[in-house]
Amino acid sequence: MKDRGHFGSKIGIVLATAGSAVGLGNIWRFPYMTGQNGGAAFILVYLGCILFLGIPGMLSEFIVGRHSQSNAARAYASFSGGKAWGLVGILGILTSTIILGFYSVVAGWCLQYLGASVTGQLKGDPTYVLHYFQSFSGNPVKPAILGIAFILITHFIVVRGVRNGIERASKLLMPLLFILLLVIVVASVTLPDASKGIEFLLKPDFSKVTTKVFLEALGQAFFSLSLGTACLCTYASYFSRHTHLLQSASQIALIDFLIALLAGLMIFPAAFSVGVQPDSGPSLIFITLPNVFQQAFSFMPILGYVISILFYALLVFAALTSTISMHEIGTAFFHEELKLRRSRAAWVLTVVCSVIAVFCSLSVGKPDLQLFGKPLMDFCDFLTAQVMLPAGAMLTSILVGWCASKTIVREEFTNNETSRSKVFYPAYLFCVRYIVPVSIFLILMHEFGVI
Ligand code: TRP
Repeated sequence: MKDRGHFGSKIGIVLATAGSAVGLGNIWRFPYMTGQNGGAAFILVYLGCILFLGIPGMLSEFIVGRHSQSNAARAYASFSGGKAWGLVGILGILTSTIILGFYSVVAGWCLQYLGASVTGQLKGDPTYVLHYFQSFSGNPVKPAILGIAFILITHFIVVRGVRNGIERASKLLMPLLFILLLVIVVASVTLPDASKGIEFLLKPDFSKVTTKVFLEALGQAFFSLSLGTACLCTYASYFSRHTHLLQSASQIALIDFLIALLAGLMIFPAAFSVGVQPDSGPSLIFITLPNVFQQAFSFMPILGYVISILFYALLVFAALTSTISMHEIGTAFFHEELKLRRSRAAWVLTVVCSVIAVFCSLSVGKPDLQLFGKPLMDFCDFLTAQVMLPAGAMLTSILVGWCASKTIVREEFTNNETSRSKVFYPAYLFCVRYIVPVSIFLILMHEFGVI
């Protein structure tokens, strides 16, 4: 395809891909997962998942995408020479479309909280804040509209193309995000008694490590690295031939991990400082934190006010660079396979995701919109993070490790033998052939009660 876009620079590649990785997964999901699964011990398991499953998994998607230079479905089919493998690409596109649907609902909540912080509506006692969240998220109309608004913002960036839309937005938003995060971390760790929160994050208690912790850490690692949905494969199709894949994958994984840790350092010291328990689950940042900000900065309310605005702005930026990547997977597919104009292709995706978002949003706080005993929103999260992403990553590693041409895989990994990273090739191959598929298989079997 002649008119395919490309990222314009090395830093653009790293920031756009890290932008995809860094998102609500780091700032919303990671802290509550860590809070519920025992703090530092969870983080260590999580780190193991990133090193042994995450980085090899990212590399495999990079290899498929960059070699094929096309959308996910065609990339998987052409990489293996077998049309059936294209289904793995299609599975990825489907997964990321579902994720975009429920993710935008949470992103819409962030928009609402950003507005509410600015107008000072989040001030009040804990019962008021709890009630605020429940009545807002359970409202049938407003959250759905905000979710759709978020998808539309994403849409208009994606339509501008790879270099002018995605790369530009990431180059602006990522540094901004980092600065906001640092400012809030500094404010948080200097609070009285903040050290208890730091200890919770850094001192492991291994008695907390159960099989559930492994499962959750694995799902979190895949979700956070945007792995298993061909998202990285699509981005890699815009990489240049000279991009060092191992170096880029390691840099992105490192940035992603550091930002998650910083998010923990922002939330837990503040929570412990005012005596709030860290295990309140998904509502942590919407119910617990507004109270935490108020109480922690009660000596200087204006600081609490500013921090609250910065925090929700941070969430909005982080979410946006991620929704862009989820949107791009489907847009590239419809554009290249159905030969639709890029803007039309983007509309197809926008409409489908908006419908999913509306149903997910309606399911919050309503017992009747359930699938398999879970509200639709939680079901989508479970289905994607704990079933579809691991399955996608397992199939990708089987494709790259066992079915594809070894010469091509090696050429891509080593940039035609020119890269210094070629010494790591045997280790990569070992991970991708044995460690990744076997561990994911065991974990999935465990999940379904087979072992
Ligand atoms: N990684 C993002 C986060 O941490 C979410 C995300 C973006 C994603 N693209 C994805 C998750 C593709 C799975 C698949 O918030």
